[in-house]
Amino acid sequence: MISEKEYASRRKRVAKELKNNSIAVIFAADNKVRSNDTNYPYRQNSNFYYLSGFREDSSALVIVKGKKSFESFLFVHKKDPKEELWNGKRLGVKEAKKRFQVDDVFEYDTLNAKLKELMQNKKALYYDFSLEYSKVKVLKRYTKSFVAIYNLSHIVQKMRLIKSPAEIALIKHAMTITKEAHHQAMQKASSLNYEYELQAEIEYVFKKNGAYSDAYTSIVACGDNANTLHYINNDAKLQKKQLILIDAGCEYQYYASDITRTIPSDGSFTQPQKELYNGVLSVQKQIIQMIRPGVLRSQLQKKSQELLCQVLKKLGIIQAGKKKCMKKELFKKYYPHGIGHWMGLDVHDEAPYKDEKNKEIPLQEGMVLTIEPALYIAHDDTNVAKKYRGIGIRIEDDILITATGYENLSCDIVKEIDEIEALASSH
Ligand code: GLY
Ligand code: MN
Ligand code: MN
Repeated sequence: MISEKEYASRRKRVAKELKNNSIAVIFAADNKVRSNDTNYPYRQNSNFYYLSGFREDSSALVIVKGKKSFESFLFVHKKDPKEELWNGKRLGVKEAKKRFQVDDVFEYDTLNAKLKELMQNKKALYYDFSLEYSKVKVLKRYTKSFVAIYNLSHIVQKMRLIKSPAEIALIKHAMTITKEAHHQAMQKASSLNYEYELQAEIEYVFKKNGAYSDAYTSIVACGDNANTLHYINNDAKLQKKQLILIDAGCEYQYYASDITRTIPSDGSFTQPQKELYNGVLSVQKQIIQMIRPGVLRSQLQKKSQELLCQVLKKLGIIQAGKKKCMKKELFKKYYPHGIGHWMGLDVHDEAPYKDEKNKEIPLQEGMVLTIEPALYIAHDDTNVAKKYRGIGIRIEDDILITATGYENLSCDIVKEIDEIEALASSH
């Protein structure tokens, strides 16, 4: 649980960053049409949620900065029995005033009129530049006095980079659910026939444990399907003697988990699969061990490439030594993506990797970074020995940077070959 006090202190920190005599407007997410008259499940805008903790659509937060002081106002959908009959209860202005530590709460219907009033004589406007054009247009209707317009999300993103203890607790809870889901997948895989059945087992565990959603669409990719990085069809038959790459993580109370495990389809790894798997695993462990405050993500990236070059050479997949492999980027064909990314309210957290001077931001206590080295060997890559073709392996953990090093938040999700095989045979 994030307390109302914490949300209030986040708004205060944002206000501190705003120029004097300015106004910041941040909108809730809109509902998105799935087809005709049905919507996708609603998901609140992460920045709006970060600053308000409010989950309803048709809402907005306005922060007005004077000389030094600031005021914050929340706009919420009014109580409306007819609308509530179809779409569920609204909190309404009266209850919102009790719950939120803002200066005032108004009906969302009054937003435009109120903005016109609040924007009088303001010199700067802040909003999230990813805002859809129709809303930007409304904001700009009152811009006569503005001399500058800034992207509010630059301020919020920087704050989101460092997680509070309450945020870390939610991520840890997401991890316990995701752990159960991956372990269930390891136990069930050999008894199932299709990728989507395995996906269903995983997502059942998410929902059963109060994580209503996945943090991203699960990837359940058997054999060569794992070599499509964003494979989400999950509709192929589970073939024997293949590896299944499972990249799945639940979202719990808006916080993500992002875990990949690669497991055998029928309980045990073949010898070539073991060789590739242990190569990736040893790289992953070595990179995680490098993590501590001050280290750069680009150092982890480079080291993972160097180590994978060595693995590829050892397995005879490339002939070149480390130096040539790095210089010619020979690893890229087999490891084309990054070592990891920030994670939090979003699976790929919208937080910066570089500062205002375009300098890379070093790791600091409270950040959460995924570590996900991989090797992908296409089924038709005739440069590689046949035994390794059609195998894609990624191993991904979520790492919290601590004062002195790191905490692997997903260390309880098994990844050693004997542990995975033991779980598979315990079904
Ligand atoms: N699941 C998306 C990623 O690993 O980045
Ligand atoms: Mn990831
Ligand atoms: Mn992932």
